[in-house]
Amino acid sequence: MTTANHTPSAQPQNTEQDILQQMQQLVSQLNQHAHAYYVLDNPSIPDAEYDKLFRQLQELEAAHPSLVLPDTPTQRVGGAPLPQFEQVTHGIPMLSLNNGFSEEDIANFDRRVKEGLDAVNASYAAELKFDGLAINLRYENGIFVQAATRGDGATGEDVTANIRTINAIPLRLFSANPPAVLDVRGEVLMLKEDFAKLNQRQRDAGQKEFANPRNAAAGSLRQLDSRITAQRTLSFFAYGIGVLEGAEMPASHSALLDWYVELGLPVCKERAVVQNAEGLLAFFHDIGQRRPQLPYEIDGVVYKVNKLDEQNTLGFVSRAPRYALAHKFPAQEELTTVLEIEVQVGRTGAITPVARLAPVFVGGVTVTNATLHNEDEVRRKDIRIGDTVIVRRAGDVIPEVVAHVPERRPQDAQEFVMPTACPVCASAIIKPEGEAIARCSGGAIRCGAQRKGALIHFASRRALDIEGLGEQLVEQLVENNIITTPAELYTLGLVKLTVLDRMAEKSANNVLAAIQASKNTTLPRFIYALGIRHAGESTAKALAKHFGNLDALMNATQEQLLQVADVGPVVAKSIFDYFADPLNREMVEQLRAAGVHWVEGAQEEAGVQLLAGKTIVLTGTLPTLSRDAARELVEKAGGKVSGSVSKKTSYVVAGSDAGSKLEKAQELGIAILDEAQLLAMRRRRSTGRRNVK
Ligand code: IVH
Repeated sequence: MTTANHTPSAQPQNTEQDILQQMQQLVSQLNQHAHAYYVLDNPSIPDAEYDKLFRQLQELEAAHPSLVLPDTPTQRVGGAPLPQFEQVTHGIPMLSLNNGFSEEDIANFDRRVKEGLDAVNASYAAELKFDGLAINLRYENGIFVQAATRGDGATGEDVTANIRTINAIPLRLFSANPPAVLDVRGEVLMLKEDFAKLNQRQRDAGQKEFANPRNAAAGSLRQLDSRITAQRTLSFFAYGIGVLEGAEMPASHSALLDWYVELGLPVCKERAVVQNAEGLLAFFHDIGQRRPQLPYEIDGVVYKVNKLDEQNTLGFVSRAPRYALAHKFPAQEELTTVLEIEVQVGRTGAITPVARLAPVFVGGVTVTNATLHNEDEVRRKDIRIGDTVIVRRAGDVIPEVVAHVPERRPQDAQEFVMPTACPVCASAIIKPEGEAIARCSGGAIRCGAQRKGALIHFASRRALDIEGLGEQLVEQLVENNIITTPAELYTLGLVKLTVLDRMAEKSANNVLAAIQASKNTTLPRFIYALGIRHAGESTAKALAKHFGNLDALMNATQEQLLQVADVGPVVAKSIFDYFADPLNREMVEQLRAAGVHWVEGAQEEAGVQLLAGKTIVLTGTLPTLSRDAARELVEKAGGKVSGSVSKKTSYVVAGSDAGSKLEKAQELGIAILDEAQLLAMRRRRSTGRRNVK
């Protein structure tokens, strides 16, 4: 038994129990003061007093490291850098919002909601659309245990260590009876004031400044070294919920946010419950007027049908809910001149006229190029070289030329002439009847631009994820005629790579290793990687799920393709045409022959799910699996992970140092598994076969 050298009071603190109690008291006091300071903006004690308590706690923890509590504020300073961010599968996917811009869009939204609910009036929760990053915070039994970015909506990155540094986020919820599991969703952002201070520091240090608070927040959150994040002041507002276990779901969105306030979570005060389109618009105009005075950046407001049962009735279309709408402010606009109009060739051969502009600062970044979309747009807007134009940039989207200013047109302004031959490969540019987009007819075989685009897409993170094979390397590989198709990537060797610029042996080896590793992929990734027009990531997933194997997809008729969720006639035709082309079929075969493989048979769903319908509680430290890995395994086997043991628990998986949950399981006579037994659940009696021997 150790005794603290410096005890905060005069009484002797002898037992571990006493010390623990003292720590608990200090942690609880400090967390309450932090809440008053960071969430309520109403400090409850002087800073010096807070610092004193903080130091007492630090001393106790230093003397008794084994007693350090999970919600201690001393851990907010960041820790050793991580090698990488782990992937986190969201318990419930994180969706996005549909956008509205005009009063008409809002009236239509209100009408559709009322039609969907068969109601005359509709009640909405209106709030701000924060310009930051969506985050999921997981609390288990009231303790903050994990934070994950939105990622692709289904899986994100584990940024727990970074999120812990955000003082406004409680490490323990204020509740005597917290839910077993609560996923709090909200936005991480940087206040305008903190952004200005950060950029001042960057300037002073001779470092690059951030373009806007959103980029600064994103850059701070994506630090593998959480000590850097700790030096950047980030804020958070809660606005949504994911998994909830062990508590009743509130009846409305406004009640959810009220509950969050009670739990000590930061919720933005700028919110209201309003009725019908008129109420929505009044909220929008009020916020719009006060926007410059708000301490953070917003890009609009968000409307959500208030009652949660009504939200459920309305449901979702694709990745966005029918019950919510983001009402965006008009994008930011500036004036500049058009220096030149050139064309770019995209991955699918699409020819896009691009305006080269005199540099102009719009919405936080310097813009030198803006898309003109297509030839018809250039004519419709009558944009000429030499014109003064309005350039718009909204959020992350590509800047665009909105209109020219007629009174500023110079005498010698030149009209744009669409080239008849591709500027990259000289093949004819063809514009099929009825289509807005002209395309280079060279295809990826003849046209270097399309070849590059196809390769960059193939190697991209959501496709075959070949780290190190970025734009610059692809550029060189194509320019030097080293490779022409993705399949040829797998024939690359050290000699071919090291002749390239900036390619030392070490980085060449890394790229080669990444290329090798990419052979082991999944069917949805592979389909997406092919770069079939109109077949994005979610379509690729739907196709993989529907057909289960590549051959069935390759041989599908248009009618069969139309059976797939979310596939309409245009998409079906595009996929059909793609596989009807013998060159594409040949490339697929070459990729398979090169060793690219995946498990077929509709992925995990095809196997027998040994934990289907079972509720599993994880406790203690497992010998090899992280908490996340164990959770993912359970979910893949069809089971659900719960945070607390009850009669409904099917199994408790216990590792070392398992505490009260294990005891409770024993009391209730619930089956207890070890890691090996859990791993055994993963083995599917799947009919899935590897398509490559
Ligand atoms: S709700 C199911 N509420 O907007 C709806 N999102 O386009 C899920 N955002 O990724 C989102 N403020 O990053 C919601 N008050 C708010 C928001 C908000 C900003 C962002 C969020 C999300 C994106 C959706």
